[in-house]
Amino acid sequence: MSGEPRAVAAAPAVPAAPAVPAAPAPAQAESPLDSLKQLVPLFDLRLEQPDLDAVADTLRSGWLSMGPRTEAFEELFAAQLGTRHAVAVSSCTAALHLAYAAAGIGPGDEVIVPSYTFTATAAAVLYCGGTPVFADVIGDHDLSIDPAEVERLITPRTKAVVAVHFAGYAAPVDRLAALCAERELTLIEDAAHSPSATLHGRKLGTFGLAGAFSLFSNKVLSAGEGGLLVSDDERVATLARRLRTHAMTLTSWEKHNGAQGAYDVPALGYNYRIDEPRSALALSRLHRLEEEIDRRRQLTRRYRRELRSFTDVCVPFRDEQVDTSSCYVMPILLGDPARRDEIRRRLRQEHGIQTSILYPPVHRFSVYRERFPGVSLPRTEAASSREVTIPLFAHMTTVQQDRVLAALAQELSP
Ligand SMILES: Cc1ncc(COP(=O)(O)O)c(C=O)c1O
Repeated sequence: MSGEPRAVAAAPAVPAAPAVPAAPAPAQAESPLDSLKQLVPLFDLRLEQPDLDAVADTLRSGWLSMGPRTEAFEELFAAQLGTRHAVAVSSCTAALHLAYAAAGIGPGDEVIVPSYTFTATAAAVLYCGGTPVFADVIGDHDLSIDPAEVERLITPRTKAVVAVHFAGYAAPVDRLAALCAERELTLIEDAAHSPSATLHGRKLGTFGLAGAFSLFSNKVLSAGEGGLLVSDDERVATLARRLRTHAMTLTSWEKHNGAQGAYDVPALGYNYRIDEPRSALALSRLHRLEEEIDRRRQLTRRYRRELRSFTDVCVPFRDEQVDTSSCYVMPILLGDPARRDEIRRRLRQEHGIQTSILYPPVHRFSVYRERFPGVSLPRTEAASSREVTIPLFAHMTTVQQDRVLAALAQELSP
């Protein structure tokens, strides 16, 4: 599934228009004192002039629903990933739903999923009428789903296994793919965090029947909202293309381009369409994806180097994994979970550092607890209770990163 990127047809030309005024550059700290007044956000999005131009051109084109820019975005995304098909949709959740539907998940089927993830990974199993079965992570040093646990949880009802590449670091999808092949199960990758990340030189999202990516605001390739389903399987791609637009046999763009006649609705579909301004934005940003991931990797390496001297902090994953990760977020595990809330409060109020928790275990949320009581995942629960996500974004400055490190040093001292 590797290979040279294919040439991509440009979106049709639209009339030239006056340039959109450049966004003001974010204020840089002038002195250490000034910098303390500014929040270091968990994530920050910076759009550049070509992004604004691409969206403005799209708005001026008069065609805002799914159309040629979406096709161009899909083509470039598939080429960069080395997969045959990419189908752009309204969210990664929609992509997961369509991937599970393509895997034939239905009532009575079990799907083994991690709990150390966002709710959508499991919720989309329920949309299909299937049952999510939660598996534990490998451990503090690797927050991926544990293949040994997956194997232990397989029953005659198991139909699929879902891997999440948490924070952009590869889950052991090579081992999971082999296990799935042996047990005749379908592997799906929730690659929401991991565009362009790899395992053994192969892009994540291409190891199973289908992969799902997210374009949500805080993601590595963000466009506000949106997602993609990728697959090498023609049947999966055709189904996803149909179901994303009500399963209609003709799309509005095809009708606009002269397709005649009545359309049919041969299956129950959804409105999971993406729109042209978001596809144009994502396409424009896709050209800078590698550059931005490189910068994320540099920042992550520096965090990891500096955090080595912190005695009571565990930094998940291995240093060498950074080279092939998309470095979506920077998770750290504190020594004492009882101090976490107070440390996060002080980071925010005393130092202006925004943090988050990725993730509260999915099986502990009310909706899952009520449906699936008694699930116990000791490693997931222990890691999650100690986790703090610290700021990371491509244009984060050294000054900002120093502030995060200095605040942590102060607040984590015994
Ligand atoms: C692991 C994971 N899967 C799925 C999703 C859902 O993505 P979207 O918001 O694009 O539906 C997210 C979003 O945060 C996520 O982190």
